[in-house]
Amino acid sequence: MDPASIAPLLEPAGWALLAELPPYDASSSLALGTALRASGLDADLVAAALTQSRLRAKARAKFGDLARDMLFTPEGLEQATRLPVAARHAHRFRTAGATYVADLGCGIGADAMALAGMELRVLAVERDPATALVAGINLRALPEARVWQGDAFDADLTGVDAVWADPARRTTSGARLHRLADYSPAVERLLALRTTGPHPVGMLGLKLSPALAHRDIPVDARAEWVSVGGDVVETGLWFGDLAPEGPGRTALLLAVDGVHVLAERGDPSAPVTPAPTGPLGAYLYEPDGSVLRAGVVHRVAEETGTHLIDPSIAFLTGDHLRPTPWATAFRVLDAMPFSLKRLRAYLRERDVGTLEIKKRGSALDPARLRGQLSLRGRASATIVLTRVAGEQRVLVVERVGDRPEPLERPDIRPADERGDA
Ligand SMILES: C[S@@+](CC[C@H](N)C(=O)[O-])C[C@H]1O[C@@H](n2cnc3c(N)ncnc32)[C@H](O)[C@@H]1O
Repeated sequence: MDPASIAPLLEPAGWALLAELPPYDASSSLALGTALRASGLDADLVAAALTQSRLRAKARAKFGDLARDMLFTPEGLEQATRLPVAARHAHRFRTAGATYVADLGCGIGADAMALAGMELRVLAVERDPATALVAGINLRALPEARVWQGDAFDADLTGVDAVWADPARRTTSGARLHRLADYSPAVERLLALRTTGPHPVGMLGLKLSPALAHRDIPVDARAEWVSVGGDVVETGLWFGDLAPEGPGRTALLLAVDGVHVLAERGDPSAPVTPAPTGPLGAYLYEPDGSVLRAGVVHRVAEETGTHLIDPSIAFLTGDHLRPTPWATAFRVLDAMPFSLKRLRAYLRERDVGTLEIKKRGSALDPARLRGQLSLRGRASATIVLTRVAGEQRVLVVERVGDRPEPLERPDIRPADERGDA
């Protein structure tokens, strides 16, 4: 994005126009633009205001009502840390005793806002001019924060006692596991900040992709996979006093009922401890993505008294229902070898028209299978295509109990604004 396309909004008239726009509605945006231009407003200003209006509407998912007062670039919004997760990051810095944090590659400033919001001094560094401009706007009410536009490794870190970086992925190769070499600012150089340069900084926090390979994790890191209600959003790497729990791997779940932590100590790049395997029981448990990524399925197995259905398949099973925030539980109604004819007959007999198909460890294509089943009934069902003790199986299951809903957008407006009774 060109900084010139944001500049008109920084004039008082531009900011006022943005504040006066009705809530964004894609279907009327074109007509609104035409009307605003017809009223004599500059075309560039109108375009800039409508773009921000659209981005603010989208940003509510990450920032709630705060988005109404922020500016965005499309890419910056895409990459920004959502508020509850940024608050967790900032909390680590605060409790570790950091006082002056450099955010190297601050994007539109979401993490920097959370850090400065906890009264930490922040040097927010961003290479891209438009993004740096936007970060400056978003941080305007936080005097503890200063934005500096330039390269992360040219910033003056005098006095900085902790570094945060949420580097952008340079490649979109789609590789299943992401490598440290994929990021900018370069992770190797960020890691070196701990020991080299004029101001070595022992406290370092990095936000990397959830698909980070275990083998790439430095041995002294606390690696934390963060799940927001089942959606794994990042791997955090924490060093020095930012990792009081010591090196290891953690699954962290932010849910409506609170924060859940499953932590293992030891070398975070070490192979995963396997969970035991055993026969299919009355219940099937699908572990949260953070548990799978962190390699702590065996811990959930221990906590719930369950075992894997197959050594290579991350479904747990047991004869008892043990509600846990770490897995979605299903009652197993039936289990059968896969046969299209048999499955079709089974579902027809039960009048199933709506079918949820889950799969793990099966080569079958759910969309194709659905077509082949020609479902017509009124009942609904869930099947799992998987492997049990090395054999392809179809499990017919039903969900039991609810896992906590995602903690996404707490509505913290006063009741009268929410329109509550
Ligand atoms: C993933 S975004 C950061 C998002 C931010 N944590 C937030 O929550 O809004 C990474 C940013 O790093 C910036 N960047 C990449 N390489 C950089 C470098 N060498 N120096 C400074 N900034 C850089 C990119 O322009 C991008 O805006």
